[in-house]
Amino acid sequence: MRIAILTISDKGARGERVDESGKLVQEMMNKIGVEVVSYQVVPDEKSVIAKDLRLLADRERVDLILTTGGTGLSPRDVTPEATMSVIDKEVPGFAEAMRQKSLQVTPHAMLSRAVSGVRGRTLIINLPGSPKAVKECLEVILPALPHGIEILRGQAGECASKP
Ligand code: MTE
Repeated sequence: MRIAILTISDKGARGERVDESGKLVQEMMNKIGVEVVSYQVVPDEKSVIAKDLRLLADRERVDLILTTGGTGLSPRDVTPEATMSVIDKEVPGFAEAMRQKSLQVTPHAMLSRAVSGVRGRTLIINLPGSPKAVKECLEVILPALPHGIEILRGQAGECASKP
């Protein structure tokens, strides 16, 4: 599995904040033996985010892009809109599962507008911005990622009902 991490944060992109969330995603993915081929921090600009997502999917052809940040309600939060503008189809289960599980931890989970979908053969999943939220959400989706990516690559055998 080749994956890319895209941290979306104005302060992070200006170097005014250390990107703990992107690093945490990297650590958690390394732990399960996944190759992180790209890691970038970009500002909360819809066109910049969309351009990067297209490049990572179409040119780098990564299997999975995990974004972190910019999913909330502030006027600068545009990660879901940028993601929706580049995906061919939604895969709502990832975002639904993260919200469902996160609501058991905090009612603030309702404030994340994260989406998930597919562009070509690349799965794109939005994670919220805080390290705590990243950890909680990534743990929820990890079990379904390998099979989802196998299917996208056309390498899956029969769908097993259990992970
Ligand atoms: N999800 C989990 N699992 N744990 C959290 O602490 N924080 C929420 C939410 N999702 C949170 C969470 C909060 S406080 C916000 S504002 C939204 O994610 C959006 O975060 P973002 O704008 O950093 O993407």
